[in-house]
Amino acid sequence: MTATFTIAIDGPAGAGKGTLARRLADHYRLNLLDTGLTYRAVAHALIQHALPLDNVSAAETAARQVDMAKLDRAVLSAHAIGEAASKVAVYPTVRRILVEKQRAFARTPPGAVLDGRDIGTVVCPDADIKLYVTASAEVRAKRRLAEIESIGGTANFAEILADIVRRDERDMGRADSPLKPAADAHLLDTSEMAIEAAFLAAMAIVDDALARRNKA
Ligand code: C5P
Repeated sequence: MTATFTIAIDGPAGAGKGTLARRLADHYRLNLLDTGLTYRAVAHALIQHALPLDNVSAAETAARQVDMAKLDRAVLSAHAIGEAASKVAVYPTVRRILVEKQRAFARTPPGAVLDGRDIGTVVCPDADIKLYVTASAEVRAKRRLAEIESIGGTANFAEILADIVRRDERDMGRADSPLKPAADAHLLDTSEMAIEAAFLAAMAIVDDALARRNKA
């Protein structure tokens, strides 16, 4: 039995894994890490220094400098930074530096919920629970549009959909740590499911694992 408890959540952009991760971390009183922010922090550092996103040694330096306690979602959540993050995320050396930091975070008691693209497959292959959260690209684009409109913005559905499809291709098609469900992941398709229903389904899976663990 491990001293810490780890919940690994993977899936494509906009599937609802961030909200689910937050709800689970609150409920089970675990630490929470959105690993996408670590890749975004690297992209943001390069953009700020006007460096190209394919400058691998600068990206490695930026990755070493990522401070897990200072990931600023407000600054890093911009759409363009997500796109840039998926470009720096293809470099194995950058990934190795960030994965080490993510593992150290996961090992910190009492454990953590981590969400990303390679948590169940690479970062925490021994996680107590692995969830793969997905939804159709159309549903994810609709949600993104509704989110933008809810804060008074405007956007074009076709453009959002094209962005989502392109990012999926980049994340699923890269050679190092592509996005895919771990063999032992529980699949949650949120296309037709409200976030509350997804949370209840995930809770049932976690409670079941905790009950088995307490019996063992
Ligand atoms: O989840 P988020 O949209 O913030 O992630 C931004 C990008 O960072 C993703 O499109 C992906 O390329 C990369 N990423 C990754 N591995 C993770 C988390 C994010 O490659 N564990």
